[in-house]
Amino acid sequence: MSVHTKVKKVTTHVLSAMKQSNEKIAMLTSYDYSLAKIVDKAGVDVILVGDSAANVMCGYDTTLPITLNEMIYHATAVVRATERALIVTDLPFGSYQGNSKEAVTSAIRLMKEAGTHAVKMEGGHEIAESVERILSTGIPVMGHLGLTPQSIHKFGTYTVRAKQEEEAEKLLEDAILLEKLGCFALVLEKIPASLGKKVTETLKIPVIGIGAGAYVDGQVLVLHDMLGITQEFSPRFLRRYHNLDAEIHGAIRNYVSDVRQSNFPNENEQY
Ligand code: KIV
Repeated sequence: MSVHTKVKKVTTHVLSAMKQSNEKIAMLTSYDYSLAKIVDKAGVDVILVGDSAANVMCGYDTTLPITLNEMIYHATAVVRATERALIVTDLPFGSYQGNSKEAVTSAIRLMKEAGTHAVKMEGGHEIAESVERILSTGIPVMGHLGLTPQSIHKFGTYTVRAKQEEEAEKLLEDAILLEKLGCFALVLEKIPASLGKKVTETLKIPVIGIGAGAYVDGQVLVLHDMLGITQEFSPRFLRRYHNLDAEIHGAIRNYVSDVRQSNFPNENEQY
């Protein structure tokens, strides 16, 4: 029997066993109780309370404005909804880059106040001290390399990262460093599939891709993008599994029309 069908609760050890037995890991974002409940029941292994909440929940252009308090609010709702999946929550921009003491304080707040199981951080050698200190407190850390949206103003564009040899080498070095420090998994965003493969074959920890090709250990997508609730974002890596924008629009149009024409409520819908 496969590892993921046996477990009642996904842990970092389960993810490691999945990699060892070549079982792909399914990860999706969630930010609220109702959708997280559906995501968890559907068998997703890892729920990411991503700082993409800044985009899809709050309408910001980048992930930079979301605060630690807001991430705690979202994570708390997801934790209440989830029975099986491992919950990983993003440390938001500004909550860990200043210094390692601040990073530990932020990670502890996410664990204590929200009850998340692990934190995710963007970057490699430049955040090594913070990663190390957080890990030393017993908090599991997931790394994130490639297109790291918290650095979007440094990159200046959302195009594919690490296409050039130099950047690809640096990414591989950072990935090895994060594994050495003790990260339990790594997200790779928007990089060539060949580099995704190389990193996945080099590391023992699971590598989860978003736009990193098919040869990684698992995939992650933003829930609102894959359900087609968001329409304005259409990168090549995004497969839309539904067109919920149109479905929700249609349902609401029907409701408005029923109210206007006094078709709602009917005899059976009143006391
Ligand atoms: O915030 C997020 O949703 C993420 C994923 C894109 C990996 O970091």
